[in-house]
Amino acid sequence: MSYKQGKRSLLKRFADSQWAWDHVLGPAYNRRILKAASRHYLLFIGELDLPNTAEVLDVGSGPGHLSLMLAQDYPDAKVVGVDYSEGQVRAASHRRNRTGADNCRFIYGDAMDLPFEDSMFDRVVSLGSIKYWPDMKRGLKEIHRVLVTGGRAFIAEADRDSPRREVLDFNRGFTTFPVIRNLINWFTVEVIFGESVTAEEAEAATDSIGFQQVSVEKLEGFPFFLMKLHK
Ligand SMILES: C[S@@+](CC[C@H](N)C(=O)[O-])C[C@H]1O[C@@H](n2cnc3c(N)ncnc32)[C@H](O)[C@@H]1O
Repeated sequence: MSYKQGKRSLLKRFADSQWAWDHVLGPAYNRRILKAASRHYLLFIGELDLPNTAEVLDVGSGPGHLSLMLAQDYPDAKVVGVDYSEGQVRAASHRRNRTGADNCRFIYGDAMDLPFEDSMFDRVVSLGSIKYWPDMKRGLKEIHRVLVTGGRAFIAEADRDSPRREVLDFNRGFTTFPVIRNLINWFTVEVIFGESVTAEEAEAATDSIGFQQVSVEKLEGFPFFLMKLHK
């Protein structure tokens, strides 16, 4: 392993850690990045085909923006967001209290071992989280386990194959201080996207889990892919 790879892996381990999400990346993401990232929610929300009374799970729900959007758009649905950062669960719960969406709640939990019984959810969504999971396949198995038969999952993730130009365009939406923009761009290109997964890798990880249909597509105008899974 080269010096550069070693350094990257260290940063990647940092980015994957609960501590980072509690103390550094969580606050930075919620304040500076969420606005840019949440623009692509709308690109797939229409595809969820959510029954009005659906039970929905958001894995790696972070500050809870997507969960709350869904809870507000579907007042008879029940939405639960799960995240392994206590800081993020607190931030999402504050946000939920401010909006008064009482059909939405946020709990602490690990994607590797979802704190739910089998076949509880009609839809599972997960945005920008699977690249941090230590074992993507195990997380996908967990999603399969908690979905009802006929249920569907929608997973969007930073595509490692995205052109650098597209990542830098996406970064322009971050609200950051000019002096550290170059550093943020470097970290995003090299670590967040550079050590993320590709659409092919995510698709391959669904092998032999038991999903009836799997499709992966690139999100138009964003350096992300969207994977759709049907149980
Ligand atoms: C980039 S944020 C995305 C947050 C949210 N989905 C959104 O789109 O705004 C990634 C989130 O995944 C969470 N996460 C990472 N690994 C996780 C795991 N193993 N289990 C649960 N949550 C995890 C982090 O704590 C963080 O809140």
